[in-house]
Amino acid sequence: MRAFDIEQVRADFPILGRQVYGRPLVYLDNAATTQKPRRVLAAMEDIYLTVNANVHRAEHALAAEATALYEAARDTVAEFIGAEHREEVIFTSGTTMALNVVAKGLVNQGDNVIVSEAEHHSNIVPWQLAGAQIRVLPIGEDGLPQIERLEELIDDRTRAVAVTQCSNVLGTRPDIAGIVKIAHKHGVAVVVDGAQGTVHEKVNVSKLGCDFYAFSGHKLYGPTGIGVLWGRRELLENLPPMMGGGDMVAPQEVTFARSQFAELPFRFEAGTSNYVGAVGLAEAIRYLSEFDPHDIERHERELLEIATNELLKINGLQIYGGIDSRAPIVSFNVDGVHPSDIGQILDKQGIAIRTGMHCAQPLVEHFGVSSMCRASFALYNTKQEAIALAQGVEKAVKMICR
Ligand code: ALA
Repeated sequence: MRAFDIEQVRADFPILGRQVYGRPLVYLDNAATTQKPRRVLAAMEDIYLTVNANVHRAEHALAAEATALYEAARDTVAEFIGAEHREEVIFTSGTTMALNVVAKGLVNQGDNVIVSEAEHHSNIVPWQLAGAQIRVLPIGEDGLPQIERLEELIDDRTRAVAVTQCSNVLGTRPDIAGIVKIAHKHGVAVVVDGAQGTVHEKVNVSKLGCDFYAFSGHKLYGPTGIGVLWGRRELLENLPPMMGGGDMVAPQEVTFARSQFAELPFRFEAGTSNYVGAVGLAEAIRYLSEFDPHDIERHERELLEIATNELLKINGLQIYGGIDSRAPIVSFNVDGVHPSDIGQILDKQGIAIRTGMHCAQPLVEHFGVSSMCRASFALYNTKQEAIALAQGVEKAVKMICR
């Protein structure tokens, strides 16, 4: 296991050495996407330079090697999330596509789906597109879904409870096990958006007890354009595929009259797979696996504590959601100051945060605002950066309010 040395960690990420407007970059927009360690980029370059061929199609040597790398990436992901069977791991373009696959496959005319008020649009809109009636599990001021109200929303047309494992806005972590217990009592599937969850805690889908789990490579120090849908084998086997095309059909089973679909996982992987992305994601997982997850958690918790304590010293600053056991994501506003003004002034200091609705309009509006500043930390951020954030916000407020 590798010792967690922040300077060595930072050296793994070349982009962190750059400057913005003549200032050292302080990248605090990690919930939007994380930076990539050099070895992820090297693994992807290597496959293009030495192996490149389409997977699962041809007989030649390169195709066999590329296919082996792609399938090895599936094994790496399966182990990383604690999947019982490797074929339960479906490669998608990201969390959004994974959730669309589940929504499209699960919902029938007249069904309803329960989503928490804390969801990202990716866990709301796909259900609407699939034709589900949306029922909302409200959140409290702590930003957590009020689980005690879940049961009253369930009826015999409820197809799923769709919930995030970790809010991309608040960093709060709903009690997934509690939700699973209630939903399963009524035979309702639980679909978990793990886009932030995979990044900030050790995930084991089998222990979590959910039925479907989605996450993205690019939030996990891997490349863009690759993500994962995990589902229980028996559920995936009965889920109609969302997309048709090459490689998702059974051999010699396509006619103009009808087609038969391939076995798992291929029935959900129509078209040329993003095998290079999958290899990059597997490399990111291997990179993370070098560290003791507790070291990363401890470091990120420290960053959150420093940022929270320093920010709260600023007059009129409010942090949204409960502070307890949240991931290192902090959303805030300052009385009388527009978040995008803060974001722009921070940017000129080299500090990158995100402002706006964070693709979670209902959640942001729950707190009576239309925009929030959000700082989100990653394993390579430093204590100095957490302090610089608060100092930058203070400076911005003084400039705006003087
Ligand atoms: N879902 C990403 C975010 O929270 C894009 O910023």
